Amino acid sequence: MTTRRKKIYEGQGKILYEGPEPGTLIQYFKDDTSDAGHPKKAVLEGKGVINNRISEYFMTRLNTIGVQNHFIRRLNLREQLIRELEIIPLQVVVRNVAAGSLSQRFGLPEGQALPRSIIEFYLRDPNLGNPIVTEEHITAFNWASTQELDDMMALALRINDFLSGTFGAVGITLVDFRVEFGRLWENDFSRVLLADEISPDTCRLWDAHTQEKLDKDRFRRDLGEVIESYAEVARRLGIMKEMPTVIQGGLH
Ligand code: TMP
Repeated sequence: MTTRRKKIYEGQGKILYEGPEPGTLIQYFKDDTSDAGHPKKAVLEGKGVINNRISEYFMTRLNTIGVQNHFIRRLNLREQLIRELEIIPLQVVVRNVAAGSLSQRFGLPEGQALPRSIIEFYLRDPNLGNPIVTEEHITAFNWASTQELDDMMALALRINDFLSGTFGAVGITLVDFRVEFGRLWENDFSRVLLADEISPDTCRLWDAHTQEKLDKDRFRRDLGEVIESYAEVARRLGIMKEMPTVIQGGLH
């Protein structure tokens, strides 16, 4: 008799399964993609494999510079073992260049450099369309404490520095990105750790010379060559040199 592993959560691009031991989960990267609040959906063959590898690459390196996160190790092409955290229901966005909803909100041309990096918080609730929230909302409604807010902001800026430098070195501008955090409990104390993923699904990445988009905006804006752009990001980072042929061969 076979038993099916327990699914804990399924989102736009990932599934979380119960892990092999208490306090762990398996994060499975799907090929499915969709746009929050829009009916558009697609299956991009190979996306899950690329995002699994890119996220492993950044989580591993962030850990070595002291940005603790949920990543334990990659298990196979599409799965990684992670620590189970109590997810803080916020999306933390860091922006270096105007684009997307910031450009729409304030009428700023996309591509305009911002005077400094800007951090924004959004409530993670797809039914409400993930609304932008202020620090007042966050502390009043107890989504996070003042200390956790400080920790998330400091971590978000360190992540921004590291990602901007790493992408910059391979000719990619980090326009903005979104991260999520969770609490790791040890007895009566909790620490804030980076969770979720870092990939072209969660970052805006532009070629530094041509400004060509190399991220999920290619899907959101129907620009085509989505998977090729994700593979290009992986190739420039020096991971998955074999990717183009692997994609053609099909990945399951
Ligand atoms: P935005 O300009 O649409 O607010 O997006 C800012 C950044 O956050 C961008 O890099 C895309 C990322 N993002 C997600 O990863 N998931 C989401 O649900 C949203 C709205 C944005």
